[in-house]
Amino acid sequence: PMIYFVTPTYPRREQFPELMRLGQTLMHVKNLHWIVADDNKNCNPNLISLLKKFEIPLTVFASPMPEVYRKRDKQQVPRGVANRRAALSWIRNNAESGVLYFGDDDNTFDLDLFQEIRHTKKVSMFPVGLIGEFAVSAPVVKEGKVVGFFDSWPANRRFPVDMAGFAVSIEFLKLSPGAIMPFKVGFEEDVFLKSLGIRYEDIEPLADNCTKILVWHTQTVNKPIPTLRIVNEDTGTSINELIN
Ligand code: UGA
Ligand code: MN
Repeated sequence: PMIYFVTPTYPRREQFPELMRLGQTLMHVKNLHWIVADDNKNCNPNLISLLKKFEIPLTVFASPMPEVYRKRDKQQVPRGVANRRAALSWIRNNAESGVLYFGDDDNTFDLDLFQEIRHTKKVSMFPVGLIGEFAVSAPVVKEGKVVGFFDSWPANRRFPVDMAGFAVSIEFLKLSPGAIMPFKVGFEEDVFLKSLGIRYEDIEPLADNCTKILVWHTQTVNKPIPTLRIVNEDTGTSINELIN
């Protein structure tokens, strides 16, 4: 089965190195279709050139976050949701079967993960490293069945998991035409998984009954792009002042 690997990304100065590293991981995976959804008003031709270098089946689109959300305080911004929703509708229209996985542009993946998720029948789950205070978020498995979750932020969620901690069969996804990811910070995974109508007993635990970490929620220190002051050498006037 094909893996549809959905990567939300957004313009910032770390964007290209993050995607370079991720692309060089995905190059090693057979039967993978990479969907890169950029939180941008327009398609960025330089981004497309970078992604083409990896020579893997690729779909790129611009899927900007609605302005109402972008205006909010940083903590209240639903990151990557517009991108994933656009990718979900692309998959519903273009993929027959296979497996959906949400792989953010800054995470770190063990190549073994792909072999594990490829045969997902409904929804599979597995631990994610470097999540929250406990440093790991993982399903709790008893006699081969998921019976609960270990997560530093339960928040009354039925599925307290990270976006990188599950994979979904596309045939199963298509059984729920209304399944959607909400613009609800912190509850994106939980609401999406609930909308698929799964129960704990349906979950397929991977990674040796969820005892191995095959994906890490690594984060890069982000720095803002500085406002450059460009001065005209002849006149001494700042070009920024002329523009503003
Ligand atoms: C954590 C989870 O791992 C994400 O899956 C989840 O979307 C996010 O929290 C959230 O709910 O806010 P975290 O590392 O805190 O992720 O967030 P980022 O990596 O900054 O963003 C998640 C994804 O959205 C990334 O792929 C990023 O490129 C993208 N993003 C971020 C945008 O498309 N637009 C933005 O403005 C910010
Ligand atoms: Mn991240």
